Amino acid sequence: MRETVLVLDFGSQYCQLIARRVRSLGVYCEILPCSVSWQEIQGHGPGAIIFSGGPASVLDEGSPQVDERVLCAGIPILGICYGMQLMGVRLGGMVQKADSREYGPAIVEVDRHEGLFEGFADTLDVWMSHGDQVDRLPEGFVTLAHSATCPMAAMGNEEKGMYGVQFHPEVVHTPRGIEVFRNFLFGVAGCKGGWSMRSFIDEAVERIRAQVGEGRVLCALSGGVDSAVTAALLNRAIGERSVCVFVDNGLLRKGEAESICTFFRDEYQVNFCFVDAADRFVDALAGVVEPEQKRKVIGEMFINVFRDEVTRLGEFGFLAQGTLYPDVIESQSAHGGPSATIKSHHNVGGLPQDLEFALVEPLRDLFKDEVRVLGRDLGLPDKIVQRQPFPGPGLAVRVIGEVTRERLHILREADVRVQEELARFSGYGDIWQSFAVLLPVKSVGVMGDERTYANVVALRIVSSSDGMTCDWVKVPYEILGRISNRIINEVRGVNRVVFDISPKPPSTIEWE
Ligand code: XMP
Repeated sequence: MRETVLVLDFGSQYCQLIARRVRSLGVYCEILPCSVSWQEIQGHGPGAIIFSGGPASVLDEGSPQVDERVLCAGIPILGICYGMQLMGVRLGGMVQKADSREYGPAIVEVDRHEGLFEGFADTLDVWMSHGDQVDRLPEGFVTLAHSATCPMAAMGNEEKGMYGVQFHPEVVHTPRGIEVFRNFLFGVAGCKGGWSMRSFIDEAVERIRAQVGEGRVLCALSGGVDSAVTAALLNRAIGERSVCVFVDNGLLRKGEAESICTFFRDEYQVNFCFVDAADRFVDALAGVVEPEQKRKVIGEMFINVFRDEVTRLGEFGFLAQGTLYPDVIESQSAHGGPSATIKSHHNVGGLPQDLEFALVEPLRDLFKDEVRVLGRDLGLPDKIVQRQPFPGPGLAVRVIGEVTRERLHILREADVRVQEELARFSGYGDIWQSFAVLLPVKSVGVMGDERTYANVVALRIVSSSDGMTCDWVKVPYEILGRISNRIINEVRGVNRVVFDISPKPPSTIEWE
């Protein structure tokens, strides 16, 4: 059985980070809600369990709890912040409100250089974020570290392999946090490590084979990283019995449909089916200006096109989706718990629920950056794995106002110049998304001796780690100038270029 560490989620915003740290140390890790049943926990056979932090107070009634058996099964446990406090009270210690809420950088003094703090110096820079703290240790525990405001900043019971830290070792502001995890996993819990994305590939292939048996799988390919990696895994697992369907909805960037077809048909050679539905989509968008209405029209059209293809291609028992861990969490929170609901797949605009496929979701435990590593290990080139995220409704939400063929053409031509010029930017690697937006206003200009009255293009170039927040990228003026000159000089119908300098929040990345 694979060596697994579980993170039990008590509502922390940092669970993903904890899991990532553990995996980066070569130990496979999954996150489960703290309310998960003991049977499910046992089913994973965890070598260790990490209790996350969380916004609640253990002193409040109804605060998140964990099954008693987790605490007495002899499994090594590391409790972080709320997780430590929960261990504190549940094992017979006491927790109290701290005199003042502590938030931000702090220094703790290490009292015992063993267990979690093996090999540490006397002081440790940490990140704190708490209102409560343990103020009487449970029996069998000793204080491992303290700070000026927190007398029990870390506690441990060596015999039971149970440890708690009041600070957050998972965040970058605790520079040696990774060593706390290393000591816990390898020193305390006796993990062996050695897990990597390559082992993930073998396991995922086995899982797909076991799930699908002799069945056929339909894989909706958008050309984005997630669906491309899903397609590559399926191809490796069941070869010809997976069919990738790629729909050109007429809302892709310049040259995109061609490059996706060339790659998957000729270079990577998956079982590939191309559907040119550009006219159907663009015709359906005629007269539609409201963004959500555009999404609805596109979603519905996708379903129609998809249905037609399924009929043409024959029987499928399974549908593969490139759902990632953040999508799983979103759908769980949207549906109030672990759900079997098909999350409307952004890339394909929302699949109908009555298609009655069983879902194959080989990436559902992974994060975007891990999927990129996986893609590379599967032999996908950078031009696929490093692609920027692209919204399912595509250029329809970047042509502000009505979407017409002419306006799509103008936007495509402007956008390709943004990409070409930014490719020379040394900071390109830090860009999350970069694109042109065609605004629904005209402005006056002068070209030669002529007055012009033409379109305005906005540039959106942002950095982000997950798309939830973003900042605009400080692109050098020379590059911005070149982008602007090229668009105005070379793209007929545009006489003005502006640069969007709004962060998210309060703005969003897309304009619609
Ligand atoms: P916003 O505009 O909400 O975008 O800041 C956050 C991220 O989501 C992408 N996005 C979409 N993706 N369907 C998608 O598949 C959509 O309707 C959609 N709207 C926004 C956006 O490109 C960014 O990466």
